[in-house]
Amino acid sequence: MVNAFDSGLAARTNEDDVVTQHDKPVVIVGAGVIGLSIGWLIAEAGLRVVILERGVAGRGTSWLAAGMLAADAEIGFEEMDVYRLSRESLRRWSLFASKLSDASGVDLDLRTEETLAVADDPDSAEALRRVYQFQVEEGLDVQWLDGQEALEVEPFLAPRLAGAVLSRNDRQVDNRALVNALVEAFGRAGGELREKSVVDEVVPGRGPSVVLSDGEHVEAAVVVLAAGAWSQRIRGVPREAVGVRPVKGQMVQLEMIPPFGLSHVIRGPHAYLAPKSDGRLLVGATSEEMGFDTSVTAGGLYEILEGAWEIVPGIYDLPIVDQWAGLRPASTDHRPLLGKAAENVIVATGHYRHGILLTPITAEEITKLVLEGETSPWIAPFSPSRLVMDS
Ligand code: GLY
Repeated sequence: MVNAFDSGLAARTNEDDVVTQHDKPVVIVGAGVIGLSIGWLIAEAGLRVVILERGVAGRGTSWLAAGMLAADAEIGFEEMDVYRLSRESLRRWSLFASKLSDASGVDLDLRTEETLAVADDPDSAEALRRVYQFQVEEGLDVQWLDGQEALEVEPFLAPRLAGAVLSRNDRQVDNRALVNALVEAFGRAGGELREKSVVDEVVPGRGPSVVLSDGEHVEAAVVVLAAGAWSQRIRGVPREAVGVRPVKGQMVQLEMIPPFGLSHVIRGPHAYLAPKSDGRLLVGATSEEMGFDTSVTAGGLYEILEGAWEIVPGIYDLPIVDQWAGLRPASTDHRPLLGKAAENVIVATGHYRHGILLTPITAEEITKLVLEGETSPWIAPFSPSRLVMDS
């Protein structure tokens, strides 16, 4: 029997027995930026797409993120495959943003100022120096600055910083504008968004389907599971393939009041600050293993505000506008889960700290997988089978 999925949806019309399946929609579970962007591209390719979202589209982790596209500043010593994926996604961001803005009419506020990683004492300078040396060895476009040079780049940094690294290729985007753009573009491309639709189960197979909490069955040509940290709650897919846990990140939103201003993303040892063009200053974020708890705590806010104040003392007088906690979806090895998880079921989750950065490459390569049945070399290292086989 031909595995319908393996031949890709675009190839299926030649097979009599799967023509009816081809009439069924691609069903995506989860309307965060990952699910929405995959849905948008597949709908643009002319296929029917239904996205089922347990809450309101894009109002989960995607809305609560900081929008940093910091492939270089966030490089990890032992995560070179994640770095390569991130770097390529960053390279694709400009074109992705301009296509999405054209398709939606929404400006994403893609900013080209670099990331400035700073150290405020000798210990953190030593740690930063090690990262910098690694970045140089890997050929990244980075520059070491002393405290005075860093102040010339960002005058509101603390005086007498111990050192800083400018990552020239890093960018940032307004993640909330990204959500709004994707919802608009998905709708304009003919996609169907069903909010407040909680999926309990995915049923893999030649004719896959999903089961909603009210008992409704939705038949699909292919199911794409992109429910972020909630993916693990959905039955029917091998547990390891969607084995993500929530990692809580508390964040606070300040308002930049002139003359105070920042233009670069600033990353310190205990906090980061992401200034947006509309005057919002996002300060984050804690990293807590607290399950699905999203309470904002005094300790959490204290930690990030103190960490931010140490490197940018001028935030002291800025008004607090909002605070929240988001849930990063982390797999057991902290690498994304991208690819086939069961017959006619694909997962795209586990983006952990890099969901906004990895949106273009995830959307494009998962769309290719759905349409052509091909797992590209970009996402092959992130196949969920690595965890299923290891378990
Ligand atoms: N990427 C930012 C964070 O995870 O807090």
